[in-house]
Amino acid sequence: MENFDLVLFSGSANPKLTEGIAEHLGIALGKIRIERFADNETYVQFLENIRGKDVFLVQPTCNPANENIMELLIMIDAAKRASAGRITAVMPFYGYRRQDRKTESREPITAKLVADLLTAAGADRVAVIDLHSGQVQGFFDIPLDNLTAEPLILNYLRSKKLPSLTVVAPDVGSAKGARDFARLLDAEMAVISKKRGVHDEVETVSLIGEVKGRNIAIIDDEISTGGTIVNAAKILKENGAGDIYVAVTHAILAGNAIEKLNSAPIKELIVTDTIPIASERAIGKIRVLSVSEILAKAIGNIHENKSVSELFEARGIKK
Ligand code: R5P
Repeated sequence: MENFDLVLFSGSANPKLTEGIAEHLGIALGKIRIERFADNETYVQFLENIRGKDVFLVQPTCNPANENIMELLIMIDAAKRASAGRITAVMPFYGYRRQDRKTESREPITAKLVADLLTAAGADRVAVIDLHSGQVQGFFDIPLDNLTAEPLILNYLRSKKLPSLTVVAPDVGSAKGARDFARLLDAEMAVISKKRGVHDEVETVSLIGEVKGRNIAIIDDEISTGGTIVNAAKILKENGAGDIYVAVTHAILAGNAIEKLNSAPIKELIVTDTIPIASERAIGKIRVLSVSEILAKAIGNIHENKSVSELFEARGIKK
């Protein structure tokens, strides 16, 4: 395709991350105008020619999810009407990800609705990081790359050289991811069985595995209210665990999660910058790893029609 240059634009959800991606790609960030009208409707205008170009729009649809999703849809619409050659929605955090099935009658499947909206707006492909569940990929009839921050977290944990390490899955759903980490870190593994109450409340937990005197790395895809991790840390300590490290990709940190995590028996909280963390919430025990390089490499490979999965396979992680 003629004039098929790569151009990168940021929505307003996480401009710092997009700047990091642009830096790794060695390109300047595209110029875009995003404003709100007096009545809070969103206005978007590309301030440079994108006709025929390979357009990447970076927007994690984190809190406020509805605003960020709508802004992304409007960006896609504007890009389509400006005759972009191809439009990729880069969503480091895919909002509504957990609403991926009906658990009771008369509920929506909002993760599917968001996929339909992206396609209807004109996205040609989507790139995300660490989806909550693999089946969300099937909601898309356009190509979707499910990237992972695991290599980043893995390398960081390796660099700490923690002796007697046990990797802990804080619920049964995260057991597979934790098992991969345990294998790659040459560590033992334990699992916590968690039962949820209504929506965001974690009700009961029990521990399967031996943790007495062991250093712990709790691995999960996200922290929302903090209930899962705080309860996990509590039961681990009650069972004689040593230092507890927590590593998650998405730091949603809803409500008073930060306060809860700060007073929990956690030595270090390792997260990534898929979602921006306001400076007043960046407590001392948080370590933020940037996914900008992973995203830059993936965007570069998508642009050049190279394999994306090979970026991860080399590190023993299969996506
Ligand atoms: C659940 O299946 C996820 O992997 C996380 O454990 C969960 O979303 C964390 O939520 P919260 O921090 O509200 O307990």
